Amino acid sequence: MNLQIHNIQKIVYGGVIGIGAIAGYLIMNKNIKPLFMWAGGKTKMIKHYQSYLPKTFNTYIEPFFGGGSMLLVAHKINPKANIIINDSNHSIIKIYKSIKSDVVSFTSKLDDLTLNYLPLSKEERKKYYYNLRNDHAYNHSAWSATEESATLYFLMKTGFNGIWQINKNTNDRFGTPAGLLNQKDNIYDKENIKNWHNLLQQATILAGDYKQTNSYVTDNSWLFMDPPYRGGFTKYATSFNDQNQKEVIDFAYDCSCKGSQSWSTNRDLDDNFFEDYISLKGYAMNIYKFGVTYTAGRRKQTVDGFEAKKAKEYLIIKKGNNNDNS
Ligand SMILES: C[S@@+](CC[C@H](N)C(=O)[O-])C[C@H]1O[C@@H](n2cnc3c(N)ncnc32)[C@H](O)[C@@H]1O
Repeated sequence: MNLQIHNIQKIVYGGVIGIGAIAGYLIMNKNIKPLFMWAGGKTKMIKHYQSYLPKTFNTYIEPFFGGGSMLLVAHKINPKANIIINDSNHSIIKIYKSIKSDVVSFTSKLDDLTLNYLPLSKEERKKYYYNLRNDHAYNHSAWSATEESATLYFLMKTGFNGIWQINKNTNDRFGTPAGLLNQKDNIYDKENIKNWHNLLQQATILAGDYKQTNSYVTDNSWLFMDPPYRGGFTKYATSFNDQNQKEVIDFAYDCSCKGSQSWSTNRDLDDNFFEDYISLKGYAMNIYKFGVTYTAGRRKQTVDGFEAKKAKEYLIIKKGNNNDNS
């Protein structure tokens, strides 16, 4: 086993890598940003990954896609790569599918909702939000898939902190409370949606278990896996136990045998879980660790709010057997 543990202090205070990476990331994503905030989103980690990025790949595969910030990095490296994205959350996958295939109806539904909403007082906006959330929860059967996903997108943009959560009292569908409701002249960024529309033309979009992406692996792909973390507090509507975490490592290894450079991320609970499993299986994987401070999605909720938490995150890389693409 090739074990490399990086102390974040060396990387950040070493200077150039951290600052250069942040600047590079901001420049390269001038035109396209994630469509929504997502618990466990990778935006803040990208600066740490910079020096490990593969230089070449023909297919980018992200089986736990969420808000998809790593796709934007992959697209910068190879704008022509085939893209395979998947998530078990059917609601957010419907948003990506609508933006890919029906963007005009998607933005026109959002424009209608925005026009109804913006002239309202704060009290009226609150009522509007909860009525719409209720319709999305219970009265959606006559809606087209695009109407449904544009409505959800509007709710995500006006809901509390952009957080996506489901509730029993919203029919196990989107149930986030209203946000500050203080938008001045817009709710969403139409240009960004159009940029995603263009980008998704080269994407295959799947909804379901991550293992279904296996058949898309090529002899020169980059697989980026960001599963629900161990010890995580975020409810993603599916549970993920330690056996599932081991299966993700096996999956990464199997894909690397087909030639994929396989990445997986996770949280370090200081119990050597991944080191022990990777060693037991004899997988030649590189293990890196970075120090992080968690924001809402990965912090523990307490009666007073959220517990601030410093933690370490893993980046586990297995280079493909058929290529040496970094
Ligand atoms: C940590 S988040 C991914 C965040 C993403 N990397 C980002 O930047 O926004 C984990 C994602 O895995 C999805 N998920 C959970 N179980 C899954 C499964 N068995 N197969 C596929 N996706 C799953 C969740 O819906 C969630 O979107």
